[in-house]
Amino acid sequence: MAILVTGAAGFIGMHVATALLARGEQVVGIDNLNDYYDPRLKQARLARLQTEPGFTFVAMDFADRAAVARLPEKFPDLDQILHLGAQAGVRFSIEQPFTYAESNLFGQLTMMELARSLKQGRHGCKSFVYASSSSVYGANRTLPYSIDQQTDQPVSFYGATKKAAEIMAQSYAHLYQIPSTGLRFFTVYGPWGRPDMSPWLFTSAIIEGRPIKVFNNGQMKRDFTYIDDIVSGTLAALDRPPTAAQSAPHKVYNLGNHEPVNLLDYIAVIERACQKKALLEMQPMQAGDVLETYADITDSCRDLDFQPSTSIEEGIPQFVDWYKSYFDV
Ligand SMILES: NC(=O)c1ccc[n+]([C@@H]2O[C@H](COP(=O)([O-])OP(=O)(O)OC[C@H]3O[C@@H](n4cnc5c(N)ncnc54)[C@H](O)[C@@H]3O)[C@@H](O)[C@H]2O)c1
Repeated sequence: MAILVTGAAGFIGMHVATALLARGEQVVGIDNLNDYYDPRLKQARLARLQTEPGFTFVAMDFADRAAVARLPEKFPDLDQILHLGAQAGVRFSIEQPFTYAESNLFGQLTMMELARSLKQGRHGCKSFVYASSSSVYGANRTLPYSIDQQTDQPVSFYGATKKAAEIMAQSYAHLYQIPSTGLRFFTVYGPWGRPDMSPWLFTSAIIEGRPIKVFNNGQMKRDFTYIDDIVSGTLAALDRPPTAAQSAPHKVYNLGNHEPVNLLDYIAVIERACQKKALLEMQPMQAGDVLETYADITDSCRDLDFQPSTSIEEGIPQFVDWYKSYFDV
């Protein structure tokens, strides 16, 4: 049997695919290697995966309906889907909303159609897991963010596409009984991370002696979640698909560290890992940003045995060490 992993050349996709291969799974990875950030980083992640037996890569756009429809014929053993590819990033969604509609809405539909087609095929569709985001909580002010809260007030178009993807999945789970799980990731970081996210931006600026932009004068908190904890939660979600509760086998979970950190404390941890002081440039709040993220993980602990265990004091040095060796600095 085989598992389709979308966004396999991405940060989370690469780590999850690596973990699946390590336990002996067959993985078909897809990615279009777009240039939202340096594609050489995506190629380097892919090169790591391609050394592993059991991995097959297809360069394609997962929003390409015709190409996706050909996958079951090309890979008849597919019976699970891990849809981790997306156009990510909150701020870019304000500049390029159509890119988000294409990858995150149309792309979600093509993956759901693939799940439907597998379901009707020889092996069925055992599990359809897709990435959502803490961004769906948008303007919510009640902390920690719980799955039971309403999430109909996104403050970025990115958040709106992720919420829409959850609603879309609900309809297909209901209509076709596809066991579906949405994972709301909370600020994921670690080795091979994303160049548009703060761990990378701050580390590179500190090492190069450039000032770092600190939004809302540092009065922000984030529930930073280490990649290994995210990988464990994602595999558990794949392995424990929901059964039909009420009308549809669909569950949504928060995957966050459950320990929000002040932005300035977090910068201090990066400074210690880099053994260098940061130059801080205080900036106002950015459009689309939220003041604090904090995950209530009651459901994910209970159903997925999700137990994030990596503090930023442990995780940030892992990222900084990787960054230094990747760039040889
Ligand atoms: N990293 C985080 O902190 C975080 C937080 C919340 C949610 N998420 C979600 O988790 C998932 C993975 O995020 P990531 O941090 O690994 O991002 P990433 O950008 O590193 O990975 C996404 C991958 O998807 C690929 N992709 C995008 N559109 C595509 C398309 N149309 N066809 C084929 N490939 C396409 C990209 O090339 C990229 O390699 C995304 O759905 C993202 O929205 C991430």
